Amino acid sequence: MDRETMARELQSRVKGPVRIGEPLARYTTFRIGGPADVLVEPVDEEDLARALAWARDHGVPVTLLGGGSNVLVPDEGLRGLVVRVGLDGIRWEDPDPQGRCGVVVGAGTVLARLVHEAARRGYQGLEPCAGIPGTVGGALVMNAGTRDGTIGQVVDWVRVVEPGGRLAVWPRERCGFTYRSSRMQVEGVPVVAARLVLAPGDRQAIAAAIRRYTAYRQRTQPLRYPNCGSVFKNPPGDASGRLIEACGLKGLRHGRAQISDQHANFIINLGGATAEDVLALMTTAWRCVRDRFGVVLEPEVRLLGSLARRWPPDPVAPAGSSDPNQA
Ligand code: EPU
Repeated sequence: MDRETMARELQSRVKGPVRIGEPLARYTTFRIGGPADVLVEPVDEEDLARALAWARDHGVPVTLLGGGSNVLVPDEGLRGLVVRVGLDGIRWEDPDPQGRCGVVVGAGTVLARLVHEAARRGYQGLEPCAGIPGTVGGALVMNAGTRDGTIGQVVDWVRVVEPGGRLAVWPRERCGFTYRSSRMQVEGVPVVAARLVLAPGDRQAIAAAIRRYTAYRQRTQPLRYPNCGSVFKNPPGDASGRLIEACGLKGLRHGRAQISDQHANFIINLGGATAEDVLALMTTAWRCVRDRFGVVLEPEVRLLGSLARRWPPDPVAPAGSSDPNQA
């Protein structure tokens, strides 16, 4: 199906705007990425479910985009349908007798807005999410946070679109939250909303914690340049930033992308960087860390479209089949 037909058919089924050939760089914090064949912004959960059902019925590949803060979109863009999840909204419930408060949040809500509303109302639990870019949906899928806590810990349930196109509620136990991952991520299940439960806390202590997390990030991370947050997950018991720095790669440039000299697990866009520039730096870092330390880093940034098929750059031996330290 060509993209004009795709757009026409889809527009007859969904309320939200449908666009052809929309450049995706403007939808990612990296400011990198070519056009989407077709981009749709559903207006509500049912609209989203309809768009997904249409794509499934027609065999059209789908990519979901939230705040675009943790993705690398290829330079040639994305084929098929890109769904921008913009379902925002925060609904606070009445506190329970213990003072704990439920809040139902749309997946497209900017995470920072939720963190600040919670703080203003005197509810704790989201402080480690202070300063993290992106939307609540993205944060849930990635189980965003720090060593001190993650968003998954305060989830009561999430509402998802199951593969059949049906809206379903998954209780926390079903969400499989682990370090920077969740069952929604592993199975590619879109999140449309969630209910969190937050405990009451001391307003000043909450505000102070938020200031501390934000200041730490500002001090240690290159936030003045477009970036995608941490490039690799941390391997157990170590930090990717430490390993990449130990390889002497801080400041390394490829085209208009650079391994940050402030934090080695960040790649920054100096202006006009391509996805190929970023992939080249990721490949260099991955190979150096493997050869030098025998550690196989796993990307934290989601490599989309054709980029997913190009990772890992070299075959990886199954775990336990060789010990590089004894080679
Ligand atoms: N380090 C280096 N060199 C570097 C960078 C870091 O030696 O260039 C060392 C630091 O000195 C420290 C250790 O590595 O001993 C860890 O560094 P840092 O405290 O900066 O935290 P991180 O493990 O690199 C994690 C999260 C960040 C989060 C920070 C702060 C991951 C992959 N990253 O980074 O999350 O902001 O902690 O809480 O878990 C993200 O996920 O996108 C993200 C930015």
